[in-house]
Amino acid sequence: MARPSTSPGASPSTSPGALADVELPTACVIGAGSSGIAAAKALHERGIPFDCFERSDQVGGNWVFGNPNGMSAAYRGLFINTSRERMEYSDFPMSKHIPDFPHHTHIREYFNQYVDHFGFRDRITFNADVTHAERLPDGVWRLEVRRAGTGEPEVLHYDALLVANGHHWDPRWPEPPLPGADSFAGVQMHAHSYRDNDILAGRDVVVVGMGNSAMDIAVESSYVARTTYLAARRGAWVIPKYLGGRPADRKHPIFSNPRIPFPIRRAFITYAIRSAVGTMEDYGLPKPDHKLGQAHPTVSGRILDRITHGTITPKPNPAALEGDRVRFADATTVHADYVIYCTGYKITFPFFHPEFISAPDNRIELFRRVYEPGVPNLFFIGLLQPLGAIMPLAEAQGQWVCDYLRGQYHLPPPAELRRDIERDQRALRRRYVSSKRHTIQVDFDDYLHRLERERRAGAARARAAAFALPVPPRAAAREGVGAAGG
Ligand SMILES: Cc1cc2nc3c(=O)[nH]c(=O)nc-3n(C[C@H](O)[C@H](O)[C@H](O)COP(=O)(O)OP(=O)(O)OC[C@H]3O[C@@H](n4cnc5c(N)ncnc54)[C@H](O)[C@@H]3O)c2cc1C
Ligand SMILES: NC(=O)c1ccc[n+]([C@@H]2O[C@H](COP(=O)([O-])OP(=O)(O)OC[C@H]3O[C@@H](n4cnc5c(N)ncnc54)[C@H](OP(=O)(O)O)[C@@H]3O)[C@@H](O)[C@H]2O)c1
Repeated sequence: MARPSTSPGASPSTSPGALADVELPTACVIGAGSSGIAAAKALHERGIPFDCFERSDQVGGNWVFGNPNGMSAAYRGLFINTSRERMEYSDFPMSKHIPDFPHHTHIREYFNQYVDHFGFRDRITFNADVTHAERLPDGVWRLEVRRAGTGEPEVLHYDALLVANGHHWDPRWPEPPLPGADSFAGVQMHAHSYRDNDILAGRDVVVVGMGNSAMDIAVESSYVARTTYLAARRGAWVIPKYLGGRPADRKHPIFSNPRIPFPIRRAFITYAIRSAVGTMEDYGLPKPDHKLGQAHPTVSGRILDRITHGTITPKPNPAALEGDRVRFADATTVHADYVIYCTGYKITFPFFHPEFISAPDNRIELFRRVYEPGVPNLFFIGLLQPLGAIMPLAEAQGQWVCDYLRGQYHLPPPAELRRDIERDQRALRRRYVSSKRHTIQVDFDDYLHRLERERRAGAARARAAAFALPVPPRAAAREGVGAAGG
């Protein structure tokens, strides 16, 4: 963990206002999944001294099938549901030779190529688990980092902390559990631990949920199981992967234009989807109780097809487990060997004291999904659910945080920040179906557009403040210094 030799002032993206030869704050990134590496790349490029700690032995997080970190939900047959062009980082296109919706192995390879292309692998410490992060009274971060095979954690200090620990690894089971769950004769599992459909061969399977895990797992089950039931407490709009012969989420002059009011865009997209697939009721699925865009998109090119073949049977929500049977809300019952809960995930930060920061029921109110008000040196990267892919948004967030750490961006005054957060929370509540899965939603193109505007506004504030560093470099004065140590 040596201090990089890069002079802060020599950064390629130094704006006219940035001060050469000024000592910059040191930073730590928790996690080297697709969000952590996007942030790390920005820090590297912008000459900010940093360390990135990754629990696993490799980058890629969720996209490493069988990841030794135990946190990946990837199954053998996982393909992305946001298209290649939506997912790629802005300055590192994915190869045109891979499909529009590639397999997870391609995605993992892509993240490795990204790290090597931009040359910051040596800034990532692998097999290193951040077990505790605490903000000291002077604002410096004190981290405990446990390396695999060692006893006592190492204590390190940093000026800034970027949290990129992912939000799809801590399974949320039904709360409360279904009546009879404790005496069910079959197997109950969460989508997070599903790896392959071989376990389902010849079995009776009930898949619970209407999100993307439920779609994929029901489809995989339908090829080998004796019966597959898809049980949902509410309907969803199933969006095919292709619309009009191209990826449905492609950049489109109307669908993805943040200057066109959302209800107008929605009307066009709804028409396109209706024309392509008809209504959900045509397939025996429940009618969605909301408009398109009021829930996280459920994308599947295969589920409707498998339903039309009779290999998947839609059902209402399970009401109870009774011995070896599942009783549904309409009082029908079926035999089940497996109940697979595709009921989503919890947002958790095990390294923070829960009284410092936590996300009960997935609620966490940040300025533009990044800044925790009142904690000026803490940043969350990739903690958002876009209608679109996370990666380019994490990339933009990383660049934004670097502006800030270099004094090239200043936050709005606290009252304005609060108002912005409140507005955002009101808009979320107004727009989305009330559910723990809809607490960090954003629209991909709108988010980027607004972030760019905010970066410009904050650059003007920084200029007016003579580019003072909002996070003063203090950690270097302590013992047990991370990237700053040298
Ligand atoms: C089955 C599935 C399919 C998905 N498909 C898509 C898709 O097609 N498109 C899309 O945009 N999104 C998709 N997602 C969403 C997914 O969250 C993102 O693709 C992506 O993985 C987010 O990257 P991340 O870096 O934020 O989190 P992760 O990929 O979870 O990476 C977090 C990293 O942080 C590390 N870490 C965590 N805690 C610590 C710690 N305390 N110390 C050290 N290291 C730590 C982990 O080891 C891990 O490497 C999918 C999610 C699931 C579950
Ligand atoms: N191929 C892919 O790329 C792929 C595959 C899988 C997952 N993913 C991504 O991974 C993330 C997580 O997806 P996910 O499908 O695992 O979770 P999710 O999007 O949170 O969906 C959870 C589903 O379970 C339902 N649910 C929650 N609690 C329930 C309960 N107690 N009883 C009955 N139903 C309940 C939810 O219904 P409500 O809406 O009513 O809350 C929702 O339908 C998403 O970003 C998704 O896009 C992508």
